[in-house]
Amino acid sequence: MTQAADPASLKRAAAAEALTFVESGMKLGLGTGSTAEAFLDLLGPKVAAGLKVVGTPTSKRTAERARELGIPIEDLDTLGELDLVIDGADEVDHDFSLIKGGGGALLREKIVAASSKQMLVIADSSKLVRKLGAFPLPIEVIPLGHGTTRGRIIRVSEALGYSGLAPRLRMKDGAIFVTDNGNYIYDCPYGVITDARKLAAALSPITGVVEHGLFVDLATTLVIAGAHGIGVTNRKYT
Ligand code: A5P
Repeated sequence: MTQAADPASLKRAAAAEALTFVESGMKLGLGTGSTAEAFLDLLGPKVAAGLKVVGTPTSKRTAERARELGIPIEDLDTLGELDLVIDGADEVDHDFSLIKGGGGALLREKIVAASSKQMLVIADSSKLVRKLGAFPLPIEVIPLGHGTTRGRIIRVSEALGYSGLAPRLRMKDGAIFVTDNGNYIYDCPYGVITDARKLAAALSPITGVVEHGLFVDLATTLVIAGAHGIGVTNRKYT
């Protein structure tokens, strides 16, 4: 099957494929971003037609869209362990590692993904990369002393060989961008991340860092829509 190659059609195609993984009775994690929204747009009518699912949103925006579409939502703590989270990504590599957070929802996205038996990543093929890092890595930080946290991110990165890193404080409409959790984001242009697992482990303990957008060992299935069709790959655990 040949898909139309424009990104919006490819996102819809990946979202439609993701819907085939959803079964009645499931507790779902609902991702954030345009691809995840394409999934919600398809899920809404299924729910209206009788599909019994409940979702937990990864952002205020997703909560609002789910309500508009009549998709039942609950707090993560009410639902407990989820069956499946469906989310997009900014970059995906062949090791199932991701960069997320382009939409600023990385913290809730990671908590929800870590609380799910499975994480299905839906994306158009432009997101698939050999090495992560061309997309600047979002790092969510506490506002207090955020400039000093930035310095620690640079020093830790330098120690791993990423010299000259210049994290950029995310802005929106002329003001500092504030996440749903009241924090700031530094977008970090690593260029090429040579070892995602090692960098993730080094960034997590930095004082002032709340979370980073490297998702390692979380995605279980990749649904990638490209000009020549849809590829579904399951992670093999060794
Ligand atoms: C939101 O914070 C991100 O992690 C999104 O999942 C990511 O930016 C993908 O967004 P699109 O589906 O809009 O490309």
